[in-house]
Amino acid sequence: MIAEAIAGINYPERPAQLYEPIAYTMSLGGKRLRPLLTLITCDALGGDVKAALTPAVGLELFHNFTLLHDDVMDRADVRRGKPTVHRRWNDNVAILSGDTMLTLATQHMCQVSKTVLPAVISLFNRTAIEIYEGQQWDMDFETRNDVTEPEYMEMIRLKTSVLLGCACQLGAIVAGADEEVQRAVYDVGVNLGLAFQLQDDVLDVWGDAATFGKEPGGDIMNNKKTFLLINAQRLATDDDALELRRWLADEYAMRDMKVPAVRSLYERLGLREHSHKAIAHYSTLALEALDRVDGMSDDGRQMLHDLIVELIDRQA
Ligand code: IPE
Ligand code: IPE
Ligand code: MG
Ligand code: MG
Ligand code: MG
Repeated sequence: MIAEAIAGINYPERPAQLYEPIAYTMSLGGKRLRPLLTLITCDALGGDVKAALTPAVGLELFHNFTLLHDDVMDRADVRRGKPTVHRRWNDNVAILSGDTMLTLATQHMCQVSKTVLPAVISLFNRTAIEIYEGQQWDMDFETRNDVTEPEYMEMIRLKTSVLLGCACQLGAIVAGADEEVQRAVYDVGVNLGLAFQLQDDVLDVWGDAATFGKEPGGDIMNNKKTFLLINAQRLATDDDALELRRWLADEYAMRDMKVPAVRSLYERLGLREHSHKAIAHYSTLALEALDRVDGMSDDGRQMLHDLIVELIDRQA
């Protein structure tokens, strides 16, 4: 249903440099997690899934817009196993096609009934601004070496988790759920989002390029203050601490030297296991939040439950 709706979007032909990158990005798939959350939540709360489809596609357009700009900011060459837009075209194309996707997203988002429109737009706008704030913290943290775990958690809540919360809440709004239920499903999405970004950090280090679709080690090359790096900075002593500081300071480090070295340092410090515990913790919070949602069908609750559990072990 989601794939069909996305494939059915028609983009104008010209200017080709504006629309081809959008069609290219939207055709490369991805997990479509955000619209999936919207539709499942809407259905689970007894709503009309067809009414949720267009705004759900809007969320996917919005998500893909953030990826175009994110790949410029993160200097990432590969996404979904293909060259990123700024690599295949250039930075200006990625910026402007991204801007266009944001507006297309808004157009899709507005296609809901008049009764729910104000709630949908206010949620969408608030979420979008939070994401930009999270993205700026993420960039600010690249050059800081004193980022704490609470600061990191807040950064990923903003850049990633609120969109999953928004996806769930959008489904609840379209289903006509009351505010308490909306808040409850938002909490499910946010906690899932925290687990999801922690997992993304892990996959960036240990993921298999073929399934992950991104070039592993990007976070290490950018000195991103991931869950792994801030914990390495906290736990490393003596030679390890010295080595880590040396890699962080080395602006000219070669990828095939720095990435394996930092990866083994993380392994020595047991950070893979440590991350998996944190992922399990936030997934459990998401499942507990799910248990607290009132008025959900058993089948719908089970579907959301299975999706959360499935994502814990994701490889892509
Ligand atoms: C990537 O999102 C950006 C993050 C928030 C980690 P996804 O992992 O959902 O990317 P796609 O849409 O499936 O490619
Ligand atoms: C992305 O975080 C968050 C947003 C795009 C808003 P990352 O930079 O970790 O995402 P990937 O790993 O490039 O997909
Ligand atoms: Mg980023
Ligand atoms: Mg990135
Ligand atoms: Mg990442």
